[in-house]
Amino acid sequence: MAENIYPIYDRMMTRQEREQLLGQKGMMVWMTGLSGSGKSTVALGVERELHKRGLLCRLLDGDNIRDGINRGLGFSPEDRRENIRRIAEVGKLMVDTGIITLACFVSPTEEIREMARNIIGEKDFFEVYLSTPLSECERRDMKGLYARARRGEVKEFTGISAPFEAPEHPALAIDTTTTPLQENVMKVVEMILNQQTKE
Ligand code: ADX
Repeated sequence: MAENIYPIYDRMMTRQEREQLLGQKGMMVWMTGLSGSGKSTVALGVERELHKRGLLCRLLDGDNIRDGINRGLGFSPEDRRENIRRIAEVGKLMVDTGIITLACFVSPTEEIREMARNIIGEKDFFEVYLSTPLSECERRDMKGLYARARRGEVKEFTGISAPFEAPEHPALAIDTTTTPLQENVMKVVEMILNQQTKE
């Protein structure tokens, strides 16, 4: 075999090198909770706070995923599984790039979240549970979907006609009914910053 005279070009830059470049560590903050529980609202606040602190962050949610790479997927158990599988695979690449990634998806079952955790890797996966009860999500009904689900116009709607299993041991649980938004935002920010300073 010919001697390789450019061994340095033989390999991709490592995650560690990318993280050094960015001055931060990649991680996945996985927000789970019912539709309307506040996942995206909290995540948007977190993104702003991190940005202010010079940390690169990326939010993944239904708006940029279900309209794009996951267009065509519905809400059957199989489609939700595929939705989350692809999100986790994309998220893994982002985390490996050193980006603090915030995923906001209902991800309604233990099995689905376990799959995401396994794809991304235990040590990079931080589950945040938006524990806002169904009654409150339904009262807010931001998109009018609960009313439609009650009328049977939207099938397999999480919390109404499809299951939601609360995570048993989330890294963090957030209650949007008792705590002001900015306080909740800062809880997540703190969790992230703690992780950034860990050896
Ligand atoms: S997941 O179950 O596959 O994780 P995802 O977070 O991507 O769900 O999408 C949920 C969003 O899609 C909800 O916030 C809601 O706006 C909308 N949606 C439309 N139909 C449904 C449904 N049957 N069940 C849940 N959410 C739905």
